[in-house]
Amino acid sequence: MEAGRDTEELRSLILAAGGSAEQIASTVTRVGPDRVAAILVDELVHRAELGTIPQLAERPITVSFDFSFEGKVFAHAVTSSGTRTEPAPAGEEAPHARVELDLVQVNRAVFGPPGARHGTDRRIHWRDFEDQQALAGNMHVVPVVQHLLSGLEDQPIDLAGLSLRSGSDKWGLHYYTPHYERHFRPLRDRPLTILELGIGGYDDPAAGGGSLRMWKRFFPRALIYGVDVFDKAPLAEQRIVTVRGDQSDPAFLESLVTDIGPVDIIIDDGSHYCPDVTTALRTLFPHLVSGGLYVIEDLQTSYWPAYGGSSERLNEPTTTMGLLKQLLDGLNHEEYEPAGHHEPTEFDRTLTGAHFYHNLAFLEKGRNAEGSLPGWIGRERPA
Ligand SMILES: C[S@@+](CC[C@H](N)C(=O)[O-])C[C@H]1O[C@@H](n2cnc3c(N)ncnc32)[C@H](O)[C@@H]1O
Repeated sequence: MEAGRDTEELRSLILAAGGSAEQIASTVTRVGPDRVAAILVDELVHRAELGTIPQLAERPITVSFDFSFEGKVFAHAVTSSGTRTEPAPAGEEAPHARVELDLVQVNRAVFGPPGARHGTDRRIHWRDFEDQQALAGNMHVVPVVQHLLSGLEDQPIDLAGLSLRSGSDKWGLHYYTPHYERHFRPLRDRPLTILELGIGGYDDPAAGGGSLRMWKRFFPRALIYGVDVFDKAPLAEQRIVTVRGDQSDPAFLESLVTDIGPVDIIIDDGSHYCPDVTTALRTLFPHLVSGGLYVIEDLQTSYWPAYGGSSERLNEPTTTMGLLKQLLDGLNHEEYEPAGHHEPTEFDRTLTGAHFYHNLAFLEKGRNAEGSLPGWIGRERPA
């Protein structure tokens, strides 16, 4: 797994962004202001979705972000042609726009909790402001800058649209995004670690990654880890780490979660082979944080023999749905009779909720120990 140093830097900037200006400044000093400026520009470019501005393909635009920090300016210029946005080559002509910003304020706006995303001072200098003809040829510089600065504000996100734009099949082939919105929206602004099994694109290293990019955009403060049996290194980017491994291998899964630490959300969109799905669930669920969510997609394979499923033995725990149905009883393990005779399993003690939709399940992790009713309440049915 690569990107260890990067993820530590990102994690510390994300956590500091919820603190005081002094805490942010000291983290910026430790990581290095120039590096922080590059991280923030990368993030603003990701959120801007500049590919939606058609004129850029014909006429690329260069924008410089001039961040001030402790009396110095750290400038990062990018040139965008819509599909590609890259650091502007050194020594090029003056940028079409130069935006003056404060490094501490921008770190808070980009990585801080929702209330923090306001009040970032900015001053924009348009290169061709006084040259009507030049300005007319590059009027799209205005929406480009607007898009780039939109990442400083709270952004409502329609997950179905985002899924389509990111190249995931979570809406269109499947209709999962409304359910994801319902369960994920309350977590959106937390600093999270998210793990998805199955990156997409199979043996083409450069294909897939749609859902990882979708989660990165939807969760502005999250680190996203993707696992695939195939090498997906070309899809790694800031806040996205790709790991090669097999979800059927418990030793690999254990070492992965030891490396990345407790996980807030796990999504299984990998092989969909029942033995792999149940292995991953049994191995990874204990590593979810309390309050975390475990999602399993494509439950249709639970009924397909080629995937280890069955349409006859519907309660067989070797199938995904059979196991999940068995786990549901554990929600009420404290009610089993006679009282005190059942030794609760890890799932009994920590599965606190389950939501089922067409081919999709969400499991909630927590402490399932509310206790039963007092013993003096009769267990006999009143005559
Ligand atoms: C349906 S695609 C994932 C799509 C992606 N999550 C999205 O929504 O854009 C399934 C991926 O799982 C990977 N895969 C298959 N078997 C696997 C296994 N045993 N462990 C990990 N990944 C696996 C495949 O290579 C493929 O890229």
